[in-house]
Parts: sequence; C-alpha cells; structure tokens
Amino acid sequence: MFKIGVLVSGSGTNLQAIIDAINNKYIKNSVVSIVISNKEEAFALERAKKYGIDTKVLKLSNFKNKVEYENELINILKEKDVDLIVLAGFMVILTNNFVNMFENKIINIHPSLIPSFCGEGYYGIKIHEEALKRGVKIVGATVHFVIEEADAGPIILQKAIYVDDDDTPESLQKKVLKNAEWKILPEAINLIKDKKIKIVENVVRRI
Ligand code: GRF
Repeated sequence: MFKIGVLVSGSGTNLQAIIDAINNKYIKNSVVSIVISNKEEAFALERAKKYGIDTKVLKLSNFKNKVEYENELINILKEKDVDLIVLAGFMVILTNNFVNMFENKIINIHPSLIPSFCGEGYYGIKIHEEALKRGVKIVGATVHFVIEEADAGPIILQKAIYVDDDDTPESLQKKVLKNAEWKILPEAINLIKDKKIKIVENVVRRI
C-alpha cells in the first residue's frame, strides 16, 4: 500500500480530490495515512474525519521555533511511514531541516503556471488578482517537488486554463481549482507511485 501524508491549512478541496481519486480507484493501492493541519479550524480536517482518516493539528505557535515544529512533523510522518507527503494548501514554509529528511518525497500544488506568479508573497487569491492585473490570457496550476526555496522545485505537471474577459479573481480561483488543480494533483501522485518519472538535473523526465 502506498501511504500518503497530506499537510493542509484550509478548505481541503485538493485533499478531497486525492480522497476521491483513491476511492474511485484512479489512484490504486493507496491510502491517505494522516492529514496534518497547522490550523484547528481548517475544514480539511472535517473532510478527513468523514473518511476515518487520522488527523493531527500542529500549531506553529505551540513550538519554541520552526525546527522543533518541523521535528514533530517529521516524527509523525515517519511513524506513519509515509511514501509521499503532499502539501495541499499548507501555509507553513518548510526549511531544509524538513525537506532534506524526505528527499524527492514532498510535492506541492500551486495555483499558477510556475515560474509566473509564484515565490514569496504569492498565495491564495493574490495570485489570481495579480494575474488579472497583468492581463495574462492563460493561467493554470503546477505540481512540483518541494525544495527549500518556495515554488522552485522540479515541475511534475502543469495545466493551463484560458482567462475570460469577465473573470474575477474569485472566478479564476474556482476555475483553476476545478479544471487544473484537482486533476493534476492525483495525476502527479500516480506518476510518482508508479515510478514513471525521474529527476535529471532539476528537470522531471518520464521514464
Ligand atoms: C490551492 O489553491 C492550492 O493550490 C494552494 O492553496 C489552495 C488550497 O486549497 N496551495 P484547498 O485547501 O485544497 O481547497
């Protein structure tokens, strides 16, 4: 069984996409072993509990520093023996201390076509506001491996979406979630689980 740990902070629609893909056998022989949130009010936790998935709340403010926080995260994920860690809207930036512990085993979903609209300060609705302000005609989402630098790891999959003239940041956010994020995240998990990709000089190649 391929064991997945999912880290969340918010509504958890990407977590839902993973759970649905496992339940409808798009992702086979896999299980979400643990969902960890840095916020106790994250709706993602309710979604997980509904399916009997173990959950844990780890608040950064309850730890002396980031290293101690990450060490607790590492302990839980190691204890669960996870094969893959998915950052699905997890709003804590992880350091090398965490990233080095799970080399090429952490992926993140980002709601833009990296390297556009990414990096420090680009999260949530801001990404879609900036895209509309810049007048881009195509937006999208990216799944990438996680390295210490935010949104900079090897790109696994991207999906593009056309911007319509009447789009608002909110409509764009919804379109990108529904038509890009919820599709490429399960697809990327399959590529990793089925060992269909490798990283060559920071670039993901099909095997
Ligand atoms: C998504 O847009 C994801 O790309 C970003 O945070 C958002 C999380 O949404 N990293 P949800 O909690 O999965 O609904």
